[in-house]
Amino acid sequence: MEFNHQSVLAEEVLSFLDKKKSLKIIDATLGLGGHTLNFLKNRENISFIYCFDRDSDAIEIAKKRLEHFNKKIKYINDNFSNIQEHIETKVDYIFADLGISSYQIENDKRGFSFNSDERLDMRMDKNQDLDAHHIINNFSTNDISEILKNYGEERNHKKIANQIGKNREIAEIFSCKQLSDLINRINYKKGKINSSTKSFMALRIAVNNELESLEKFLNNSTKLLKSSGKLMVISFHSLEDRIVKNFMKYLEKDCICPTSKMICDCEKTSELKILTKKPIVAKSAEINQNSRSRSAKLRIGEII
Ligand SMILES: C[S@@+](CC[C@H](N)C(=O)[O-])C[C@H]1O[C@@H](n2cnc3c(N)ncnc32)[C@H](O)[C@@H]1O
Repeated sequence: MEFNHQSVLAEEVLSFLDKKKSLKIIDATLGLGGHTLNFLKNRENISFIYCFDRDSDAIEIAKKRLEHFNKKIKYINDNFSNIQEHIETKVDYIFADLGISSYQIENDKRGFSFNSDERLDMRMDKNQDLDAHHIINNFSTNDISEILKNYGEERNHKKIANQIGKNREIAEIFSCKQLSDLINRINYKKGKINSSTKSFMALRIAVNNELESLEKFLNNSTKLLKSSGKLMVISFHSLEDRIVKNFMKYLEKDCICPTSKMICDCEKTSELKILTKKPIVAKSAEINQNSRSRSAKLRIGEII
């Protein structure tokens, strides 16, 4: 199977990699290996890259694409939130390109895409028990409504959840297409975007516990960076971006005392310098070529 895969903000990320000193890198979201391949092709000074992905299929595909460089790579099939359990040395860069890959979206069998007649799945890690089918057919309509509201900012979250409740009393909601047809009958379609987009994103975030994993990953990752090491994160929606932004802002602060305090006694020191006061976004040329890059935001922090 061929995949229509283009790495987002590839040039921008690469431009932050030092050209001279020997570099150790962690790519926390290997996907199809696009960014890692770009790093290795353009920086001979990279001595090693640790590559994580929760999706064993993605690792197998990337391994083939990166065959030429495999001596410099260790593949780790785990959630990036467990980063510390696998890495014993400090590194120069930790990079994450969040979300799902084109492989996962385009592969009908993975149950992420609107038109798939396959079982609602959406698990990045196929060994995980919880999938989208379980949430849609077993969670209370209240819980489904909360997921759609909190993770998808879906306006019609209550209506959709109630309709799911009614439909599943008659027969289980099995496929992605059945769910997307149900949502599209409630949501008015604007422009080219499928009107189930927000609900599908919300479900995916819930199935994969994405926000909690991200928080854990950020907390663990900075401990693995050398002094002057850089944390580089690309996010694709506001919830993720807010977590990354607030995390970096907190680490940058050198005081967390309440403003009412005259003398600081918090002992907080600044641990990171934010290098991107505003996030780096894709240029129009990239957006024209790859619409997914439209919502990408790259934030970079350097350990002090
Ligand atoms: C946007 S893709 C990465 C694309 C990659 N940078 C490239 O250029 O080919 C995101 C990848 O991260 C993986 N992923 C997402 N969340 C993860 C997590 N918590 N732990 C490990 N891998 C994760 C997904 O399975 C997916 O393969």
